[in-house]
Amino acid sequence: MRDITIQNITQAVQGSWDKAPDERLKTLLQRFVPYLHDYIREVKLTHDEWLTCIQFLWKAGQISDDRRNEFALLSDVMGVTSLVDLINATPGATVGSVLGPFYADDSPQVPFGADLVKDNAGKTVLLTGTVRDVEGRALSGASVDMWQTDAEGYYATQDPEQADDNLRCKQACDAQGRYAFTTVLPAPYTIPMDGPVGALFTTTDRAPWRPAHYHFIVRAPGYIPIVTEIFFDHDALVDSDAVFGVRAPLVRHVDEVAEVAFATVRKPERRLDYDFTLVRATGAPLAVAAPV
Ligand code: BEZ
Ligand code: FE
Repeated sequence: MRDITIQNITQAVQGSWDKAPDERLKTLLQRFVPYLHDYIREVKLTHDEWLTCIQFLWKAGQISDDRRNEFALLSDVMGVTSLVDLINATPGATVGSVLGPFYADDSPQVPFGADLVKDNAGKTVLLTGTVRDVEGRALSGASVDMWQTDAEGYYATQDPEQADDNLRCKQACDAQGRYAFTTVLPAPYTIPMDGPVGALFTTTDRAPWRPAHYHFIVRAPGYIPIVTEIFFDHDALVDSDAVFGVRAPLVRHVDEVAEVAFATVRKPERRLDYDFTLVRATGAPLAVAAPV
């Protein structure tokens, strides 16, 4: 390696990991280098451009802390988060989507039929559905964890005006694997724009909007949990999500309320039904509801 050139530098860097003991890590590193180097060779990256990249990453580090990760946001807007989700999807399960930065694990546990609307403005919706396994059997042990923005497009975890636990909940499904609560329709919002990723959007005239959505994590003992989102077919932004989280089966119509087969605390203006399918974790025992 006495005479490094444009042509042989890639092989030299790859070779520097030849003795890495972890085979997978070695593969990940050695396969990454040719893509990175080819890109630099192809676009003939200048010193100024590389310095700008380094400064961008430095600023991303500076603005990140325990509650905010600008690198995760960068991954989202580059489509990397969604690509990793898509290639690791569980066949047969409800399709997943991005977690996003506004999840908090301490949402209040609410009973079946609960009301999350409280004094929130916006269209009221009964959000309900059944969690099933791939054979269509209801999972009585399932639970849902839901979080959303208010009708202005702000999450409780980012908005000091809202109660800390506003419009988010955990709910254990009933004996038929059903979840149900009334809430409001969320609104579209922009990704956080006050950091280097936001500056990149502004510089490049890129639209920073996410379509309105409900976030869900759905779990059942012995089953692979899913992290996903539900979008609305009335929202034009479903075709231009800044983080590429929309998948066709996740886009739903919000219906008029017909008869509701169970009691809810609040009578809603609209209704949205969404059933989830979970796949059993390998080797885990069955945990399905008794037939009804
Ligand atoms: C969200 O849905 O909360 C979100 C996801 C990715 C980036 C920013 C926000
Ligand atoms: Fe979100």
